Amino acid sequence: MQLSEAERRQFDDEGYLFFPELFSPAEVAVLREEAGRLYDQEREEIVRESDGKTVRTVFAAHRFSDVFEKVARHPRLVEPAMSLLGGEVYIHQFKVNAKAAFDGDVWQWHQDYGVWSRDDRMPEPRAMNLAIFLDEVNEYNGPLYFIPGSHKGGVIEAGHDTATTSYPLWTIDNATMTRLVDQHGIVAPKGAPGGGIFFHGNLVHGSPPNMTPWGRTIVYVSANRVDNAIQQYKRAEWIAHRDFTPIRPLADDCLLAQDAA
Ligand code: SIN
Ligand code: MN
Repeated sequence: MQLSEAERRQFDDEGYLFFPELFSPAEVAVLREEAGRLYDQEREEIVRESDGKTVRTVFAAHRFSDVFEKVARHPRLVEPAMSLLGGEVYIHQFKVNAKAAFDGDVWQWHQDYGVWSRDDRMPEPRAMNLAIFLDEVNEYNGPLYFIPGSHKGGVIEAGHDTATTSYPLWTIDNATMTRLVDQHGIVAPKGAPGGGIFFHGNLVHGSPPNMTPWGRTIVYVSANRVDNAIQQYKRAEWIAHRDFTPIRPLADDCLLAQDAA
């Protein structure tokens, strides 16, 4: 998938690009079924909410699910990532975030590269995410909030929050967020299952809890340039990967083709 000049410019200016129909309903059906199967498993890569039972995040699903392995190697993701980052990429992190109905908890304001630089010693912000909606994302069920343009400010000071949710994160304080929101506002891309968002590693984002009856699964694939590999192995391998092999994209129909490998 080739990005236009206008799309590249928009990514540079705003820090994200939203494609409301990146994956088809048939492709999403395959992914949703597989996510449901993973939620029923017991394994260390599954982080639960602080209630100890609701699935919050399935990490590294591309390592134990053939379907999600295809997502990690999908050309609609890998090709734009290579083009925006200017070189070959490997997968630094892979998450299926459930944001479950009623019990899905907050993700405080943060920058992913803020976490990757502090915890994993990733040298430069030459990394980004693709988010894929597996459910409808609406204004009620915990959409992502972005601060457009905030990726241009570099790594912002942050505190290590190990208390608010079950997952530790380097989060940005209220005074800084007040200044950023005054300056840039907030956007919350919403839409049908199959929507996809590319966003810069330094884009400030978060999401509120989900108090609705509607689950909000979003899959996140974090791509890093191979010459920007992490230098510290403090976190579990299934959270911050150490296989820096460049991803070779599969065929565009890989999720639906019977014999795709
Ligand atoms: C994240 O920022 O890593 C996850 C946010 C979300 O799924 O709402
Ligand atoms: Mn994040």
